[in-house]
Amino acid sequence: MAKKTPLPASMDFYQDNTKLKWVILVVSVLISAGSIYYTDRLVDQLKKREKQQVELFAKAMEYAIVEDFNTNVLFVTEEIINKNHSIPIILVDDSGQIAFTRNVDVDSTRSEKKIKEQLDQEIQSMTETYEPIVIELRDPTINNEIFGTQRLYYKNSALLSQLIAFPYIQLSVLAIFGFISYLAFNYSRTAEQNQVWVGLAKETAHQLGTPLSSLMAWVEVLREDHDIKNKGIVDELDKDVRKLRVVTERFSSIGSTPVLKDENVYQLVNNVVGYLQPRVSSKINFEVYTLSETIQARVHAPLFEWVVENLCKNAVDAMGSSGTIAIKILRGSDYKVFIDISDTGKGIPKPMVQNVFKPGFTTKKRGWGLGLALAKRIIEMYHEGKIFVKSSEENMGTTFRIELMSA
Ligand SMILES: Nc1ncnc2c1ncn2[C@@H]1O[C@H](COP(=O)(O)OP(=O)(O)OP(=O)(O)O)[C@@H](O)[C@H]1O
Ligand SMILES: [Mg+2]
Repeated sequence: MAKKTPLPASMDFYQDNTKLKWVILVVSVLISAGSIYYTDRLVDQLKKREKQQVELFAKAMEYAIVEDFNTNVLFVTEEIINKNHSIPIILVDDSGQIAFTRNVDVDSTRSEKKIKEQLDQEIQSMTETYEPIVIELRDPTINNEIFGTQRLYYKNSALLSQLIAFPYIQLSVLAIFGFISYLAFNYSRTAEQNQVWVGLAKETAHQLGTPLSSLMAWVEVLREDHDIKNKGIVDELDKDVRKLRVVTERFSSIGSTPVLKDENVYQLVNNVVGYLQPRVSSKINFEVYTLSETIQARVHAPLFEWVVENLCKNAVDAMGSSGTIAIKILRGSDYKVFIDISDTGKGIPKPMVQNVFKPGFTTKKRGWGLGLALAKRIIEMYHEGKIFVKSSEENMGTTFRIELMSA
């Protein structure tokens, strides 16, 4: 049986994170569905009860109309007809005249015609919800013969209507609240992350500063020392100290607000290639293409070089021992400059593409997963540009694109 290689901790974290999002989504949907279902059942029961009430009301009307006036009729009128304080009803007689309304809001200051119009509209809307109940008027003195009919229109009480709308209002309010909390939480998390980035970078630059200045002084001392015959060693030492200075400058720039200048992009890219080429396998080719060697963009040189270096290092890692890194510098429309960095490496699987810029995401044994997060931060926050995976195909290679504003 094939042995399963465990995922690096940071990848696990991103998968758990997506899982957590799904769990939250599913639980929210279940709660919403449950809440709607439960209120729906309440609404059903209340509807039934209101229907029974209206039917009882209709029966009471029938009784009260045909019976001679007596105490029973008084009871029915008092206890049933007058006690309906919630269900809106309109009673219409044979000739279409409105005989009686209850719990229907009519503005009595309006003209009779207007009131009639309003009630007609009300009847129309009541018919759309419930069929009217037909009340047959029988004369007990002549064999219960029907001497007329009336129609009782009704609709849901205000309470019932509110109950129907309740879960939707409740869920909308909760959704809006959830969304605002999410934004606030995200904002404070980003602010916190920014503080960590900036603080750590400043501290690193600060700590490197002191030994670096003394190293520079020592190199000068060695250069002056006539006892040292092999000055080549001093030159190499000087190069490394210079590189350390560049590193310190990068950390110090990311910890402050870097000033952008018009710089020759072709030149900067070549600086990085010149630095990296002797340090990687000789079977890795670097190729830099451009139609104009004078293309300029607004950049902070040390930080921009750091980004290109990170992308090239990733490309080298993706290719193993041999391959080609092609860097194309292009002029785009709308004052844009594109820098495309392509490799012939193993590519990035599609589902992984969305994670590569997240801090801590790595597939490497000795990776920190910070290279691309830093690159994104430098390009997007300090240069107001863009950086993204332009294309990637497994076992064929990957192209990253940087978009900058031209000078
Ligand atoms: N050119 C590329 N080809 C294939 N995969 C890549 C390429 N560039 C980045 N990746 C993937 O993206 C992940 C994140 O890259 P990133 O540079 O942020 O971190 P890292 O290289 O793993 O570690 P670090 O740069 O901090 O040392 C890598 O681990 C790798 O899986
Ligand atoms: Mg990297």
